[in-house]
Amino acid sequence: MDKLLITGGNRLNGEVTVSGAKNAALPILCAALLAETPLHLSSIAALKDIDTTIKLLDTMGVKISRNGDKVTLDASEVASFEATYEMVKTMRASILVLGPLLARFGTARVSLPGGCAIGSRPVDLHIKGLQAMGAAIHITHGYIQASTLHLPNRRLQGARYYMDLVTVTGTENLMMAAALAEGTTVLENAAKEPEVIDLAEMLIKMGANITGAGTDVITIVGVEKLNGTTHNVVCDRIEAGTYMVAAAMAGGEVKLLNVQAHLLDAVIEKLREAGATVTHDADTITVKSDGKLKAVNIRTAPHPAFPTDMQAQFMALNAMAEGVSKVTETIFENRFMHVQELQRMGADISIDGNTALVKGVSELDGATVMATDLRASASLVLAGLVARGDTVIERIYHLDRGYENLEAKLNALGANVKRVA
Ligand code: EPZ
Repeated sequence: MDKLLITGGNRLNGEVTVSGAKNAALPILCAALLAETPLHLSSIAALKDIDTTIKLLDTMGVKISRNGDKVTLDASEVASFEATYEMVKTMRASILVLGPLLARFGTARVSLPGGCAIGSRPVDLHIKGLQAMGAAIHITHGYIQASTLHLPNRRLQGARYYMDLVTVTGTENLMMAAALAEGTTVLENAAKEPEVIDLAEMLIKMGANITGAGTDVITIVGVEKLNGTTHNVVCDRIEAGTYMVAAAMAGGEVKLLNVQAHLLDAVIEKLREAGATVTHDADTITVKSDGKLKAVNIRTAPHPAFPTDMQAQFMALNAMAEGVSKVTETIFENRFMHVQELQRMGADISIDGNTALVKGVSELDGATVMATDLRASASLVLAGLVARGDTVIERIYHLDRGYENLEAKLNALGANVKRVA
């Protein structure tokens, strides 16, 4: 199993191009199921989760061609409406085929995603929303069996649905389902993440009638059919944030290309509070730092608040910053898996419920550590970049799910990162 060997201590200087967002590409790829004619996408990153989604759609009969970051999907002859456990267990976001399958074909059999390292991650809100639209849903043998064949015109019916929790993929699934429903759907307490907005913008280009994406009330007036379009996926704000933290921690000057600063307001504010200099223009962000940072308190919450997907990265920053900080995770119940690994590198962190108390140390110590989930792995890479000596990160398949060409991008900035078998 691949490992990363990182020799710490190098400053980071130069330019890095941000890839297309994983968490926008996944729902956008699944939205191809809604279209009668081909969908042409660009800025689709070379990531494991993207490969998995393309494989899943291929098993359903979607004709897919891929050339670099360009992907064309033709769902004119979908023959299977199922996402098996084997598929879903490797990637929970496979649940995003449920809404489109029901909306266009009236039937779907999708494995319940299991839990994962960061929490139980139920999909009850996805299911309740579809039931609110009239879907008949039974959970049998670990599968969600859903149908609209009993409904007028066999179509989902528009409904008003209040989501008890802000759920990103729940909002996306229900928005896609409502796009072809009969009548109007109003999603309340909707997620406002940029990836939700990007999906909505593409659905509108496909012919959907959607207003309010990016606010907590999204209104979707169902239409008869949707057609393919062309769409360039929004940049990956979490990948960008990860490189920004790397530059702040290691010291140096790094310019990120293909990124819009307004997607990262909360992250930029915290980096400035920590002492980094952050400037930007329309599609670049530059981070300058002497590597001597002040600890900052973090509290995750739904967008536009501080993103949970950046919590682990800031835990690494705080571990070697000056002062004491509190990191509170309000979204997932078990998203501190990186803590015990950072502790092995000399970090002084104690956990009390969903809050970690981090006492900055002057230096971290290279060690062999284990990746447990995507963003925890990122925090270990960041710690390795600044630690004394060598750090070996095991199980880096987690990283490959969400970071395109990570070692190449870091080494181009002056880091010393090798992938070893
Ligand atoms: C999306 O996951 C992202 N994944 C996650 O990114 C991200 O951490 C998360 O949103 C929060 O921003 C994708 O977009 C593919 P949620 P999602 O539904 O949609 C609870 C990464 O690192 N909940 O917004 O699965 C849930 O347990 C990944 O790129 C229910 O209880 O997250 C959690 O506590 C990790 N019932 C909270 O809501 C439901 O039906 C938010 O989850 C749905 C969610």
